[in-house]
Amino acid sequence: MGINKSKEKIDASGLPEHIAIIMDGNGRWAQKRGLPRSAGHRAGAQTIRKITEFSNEIGIKVLTVYAFSTENWKRPEGEVNFLMDLLLEFLKDAERQLAGKNIVIKVIGDIKLLSEEIQQQIHKTETLTQNNSGLLLNIAINYGGRDEIINAVKRIVSDVQYSGLNIEEVDEYLMSRYMYTKGLKDPDLIIRPSGELRLSNFLLWQSAYSELWFSNINWPDFTTENLLEAIRDYQQRHRRYGGI
Ligand code: IPE
Ligand code: IPE
Ligand code: MG
Repeated sequence: MGINKSKEKIDASGLPEHIAIIMDGNGRWAQKRGLPRSAGHRAGAQTIRKITEFSNEIGIKVLTVYAFSTENWKRPEGEVNFLMDLLLEFLKDAERQLAGKNIVIKVIGDIKLLSEEIQQQIHKTETLTQNNSGLLLNIAINYGGRDEIINAVKRIVSDVQYSGLNIEEVDEYLMSRYMYTKGLKDPDLIIRPSGELRLSNFLLWQSAYSELWFSNINWPDFTTENLLEAIRDYQQRHRRYGGI
C-alpha cells in the first residue's frame, strides 16, 4: 500500500521505523540571506515542527533530532544563549502544538549541564506527553556520542563493582540499555542536510548499521518532499548487516 502524500508514492510497508536527523546549515542559510545566524536557528526550529508533524502523519515511530552537541558549547556565548532560549521556547510551544497531535517528546543528552529552567521545562514537557501514542520526538541536547559511551561505561563499571553485575553479561544488548536511547530501535536512516559528510559525534553506538542520506539543502529549507526523497532512497537500499 502506498502513502499518497506526494506525487511519487512511498511504500508504507517498508518505512524506516526510526529516523535521525543532524539539523545542520542554519548559519549558512542565514548568511546567504544577509541575516544573523540567529535567524537561521529560528527558521530551523520551524522546520523541526513541520518535519515532526509530517513524520507522525506518515507513520514514522521515532524521530531523533540533533539540536545541540557537546561540542557546540565552543560557539560564541551569544549564540549558545540564543540556542538555549530557542530550545526552551520550542519545548514550551511543543506542549501546545505537538502534544495535541499525540506526539511524545523526550530529550536525550547530558541535561545536567543545562540551566535549571530548561531542565524543569524538559521534565514538564516529557511528563505532559508521556501518555501519547504517536511519534516519539527525541531531541538531542548537549548530546555527544562519545560522552554517551563514556557515561555508559562508567555506570557499567559501577554496577559491576557495587550492584552485582557480572562482567560476562556485558554485551551489545547490555551496552544499548546503558545508552540514552535505551529501549529504542537503532536509527534505520540518518539524514544530514547542509552538504557536510560526517556524523559530528551523533549516535556513534547506534549508527553501526544505519543507512546514511546526505543532501546539500540547508536545514531551514528542508521540506517534507526532501524527507520523502530520503525515505524513497532508503527503500531502495539492501541492508545486509554483514550477511550476503
Ligand atoms: C545547525 O546549524 C544548528 C546547530 C548546530 C545548533 P549550524 O549553526 O551548524 O549552521 P552552519 O553549519 O553554521 O551553517
Ligand atoms: C552538528 O552540527 C550538531 C548539530 C546539528 C546539533 P555542527 O555544525 O556542530 O557540526 P560540525 O561542526 O560542522 O561538524
Ligand atoms: Mg553546522
